Amino acid sequence: MRFYLLLLVVGIVLLGENAFAQTDTILMAMTPIEFERIAPGVWRGRVGEEDSLKLSSFAGRQMDDMDGEVAFPFAVDSILGQHVGNRAIIRIPLSEAERVFGLGLHFDNINRRGRVHHLRVDHHSGITGRTHAPVPFYVTSEGYGVLFDTSRFISVYPGIGNRKDRPDLPPIRDRNTDSAWQAQPTSDAVEATVQGPGLDVIVFAGPKPLDAVKRYVRWSGGGALPPKWGLGFWHRTPTNASAEEIIEEVDMFRDQDFPLDVVGLEPGWQTRSYPCTFDWSDRLFPDPSGFVNAMGERGLHVNLWENPYVAPESSIYDEIKPYTGSHMVWLGLVPDYTMAEAREILQDHHKRNHLDIGVSGYKIDEVDGIDEWLWPDHAQFPSGTTAEQMRQTYGLQMQQMLLEMFSERGERTYGLVRGTNGVSARYPFALYSDSYSHRGYVAALCNSGFVGVLWSPEIRSARNEEEWVRRMQTACMSPLAMLNAWASGTKPWSFPEVNEPIRKAMKLRLQLVPYLYTAFAHYKFEGVPPFRSPALDWPEAGLEGIADQYMMGPDIMVAPIIAGTRKRDVKFPPGKWYEFETGELAGADGETISIEPDLDEVPLYVRDGALITLAEGGHNVATLGDTIVRHYGEEVSQSVTYVDDGVPDNRKGDDWYRWYQMTATPGEGLEVKPARGGYEPPEGFEVTYQYLGPK
Ligand code: GAL
Repeated sequence: MRFYLLLLVVGIVLLGENAFAQTDTILMAMTPIEFERIAPGVWRGRVGEEDSLKLSSFAGRQMDDMDGEVAFPFAVDSILGQHVGNRAIIRIPLSEAERVFGLGLHFDNINRRGRVHHLRVDHHSGITGRTHAPVPFYVTSEGYGVLFDTSRFISVYPGIGNRKDRPDLPPIRDRNTDSAWQAQPTSDAVEATVQGPGLDVIVFAGPKPLDAVKRYVRWSGGGALPPKWGLGFWHRTPTNASAEEIIEEVDMFRDQDFPLDVVGLEPGWQTRSYPCTFDWSDRLFPDPSGFVNAMGERGLHVNLWENPYVAPESSIYDEIKPYTGSHMVWLGLVPDYTMAEAREILQDHHKRNHLDIGVSGYKIDEVDGIDEWLWPDHAQFPSGTTAEQMRQTYGLQMQQMLLEMFSERGERTYGLVRGTNGVSARYPFALYSDSYSHRGYVAALCNSGFVGVLWSPEIRSARNEEEWVRRMQTACMSPLAMLNAWASGTKPWSFPEVNEPIRKAMKLRLQLVPYLYTAFAHYKFEGVPPFRSPALDWPEAGLEGIADQYMMGPDIMVAPIIAGTRKRDVKFPPGKWYEFETGELAGADGETISIEPDLDEVPLYVRDGALITLAEGGHNVATLGDTIVRHYGEEVSQSVTYVDDGVPDNRKGDDWYRWYQMTATPGEGLEVKPARGGYEPPEGFEVTYQYLGPK
């Protein structure tokens, strides 16, 4: 008996030991990932099993033309993978001098190498990798891009850490005696890991960094093309403003000669918000349809704020309850929008109560809320989607669902969202934040282009006139130009002494709409991000240390003055660059100049030979005046401009858009020829040529 007891004890001990399976800790334990070509210049590989709800499930119809076949940008067998325990790991080579960009929307600088990114949708908490848009895509100075196609929390280690048996380890140094000792010895890889059944990795060829981003965007379904009115000026009214007060407020824009295209209503338009009812407040909006009509008569579009959490008083509460998660947010239900039933309930409600009366879009708030507000990581959802995956894609789910409603009706929309993720370039929603750092907002404009998202550096309030102007100038040179006065109640004329510079910035925005619309068409058709760091266009020009200059469209570089500073340096990429207003040569070829512009000046620099399409006059996009093509510099120039019929951009065929090919010879004139597309604008396409050659 005692003998058997002993055997049992030994057996248990042995079994216990076996529970810790031995693991090989050598690099050889990882195996080369096999890649399959899925589009020209795009390859997919996988470690472990295929996971559910990949980011690519949010992609649109892939663009037909992916820029031709190119070679796989890595040596065969050099990307390694391993699935061990419940973890998938991928290791991708990185050369010593290679620079890494992307990995989410960041507010500091553009360099991502040497920092760990725990990519997680979050309300800009400051923890590296927690961001409104934790896009697991990076592009390097070697000219290729990598997407980790997962909706899990993912950690990415770009150029961090060394394996004990990597080839060519850097020299080991003594910290006490060698000043060249480094806390982060140079590493030779990007490693990424998720907990889950597997991890997909997609490689995008270049050959240049911008080509890789273009491929990523096109593979995602092309970039968003907002309706033209969406590129005008937006104003969000105070949260408790009534219909009457808003009508009065917007009429003041016209009276005081400030352009306006979109009016955004903040939480108070609903019977309850935080959580939301999505139902109009009778008290503030007794006649919602009359209100939206009144806006329409003034040429204005209406955008509604909402967060996704459903209040008990909501007219959809009972119906949607079976399709919601285990935990609540602010005592509101959290719908599982991966389920068609939940989507239909919300869409049906929104169509009847909002779209049918003319609402043009939404601002989707709080899909990025902080950990203490949103659902915990162990929350359950009826579809079986995990809390983690729900968290990472909730903003994407909302964008997809809301966009679908407009597309089905043959309408375009443009809106805002506070959290998104990868493969989202086609969604016409700009990100925004409560963080309110002017410098950070400019850095985010630079970074947004690396990962195919749009960023709005909105203006809310200011401590003084100077800040009011400088922030307004940045807001006006962005994908979505907006004053968000939900709490401050500010108006463009809140600092009367600087009405002129403010009006000038807002009018400049309006003047630029045809140019910006063409920039967005390049995003849609070719995948070129309309706002991006110049390091993406010129990877060899030493611009990677700069996070306060950005490209706006194909030809204009913006060097904003950050509130609180008067002077700044501007570094020019290759070629000659001209001042936007005067056409004077400003600098060239890597030169750095120091500028101290007047308060009403927005430093904009135009590439040599650029043809910039501008509009004259008007108080909103619908009333824009004549089109002018301004020619800068000394080059004979070729460029394009884009027009369309304004309805959804997801249609096949080409009878709804038209590119015009423009050729200009300095001082002589401009030739305009219809090119790609079959659309004939009813009013024709007339432009006035203006040569702004060097003085
Ligand atoms: C915040 C949002 C603001 C504003 C506010 C209204 O979460 O970032 O832009 O909409 O809610 O309560």
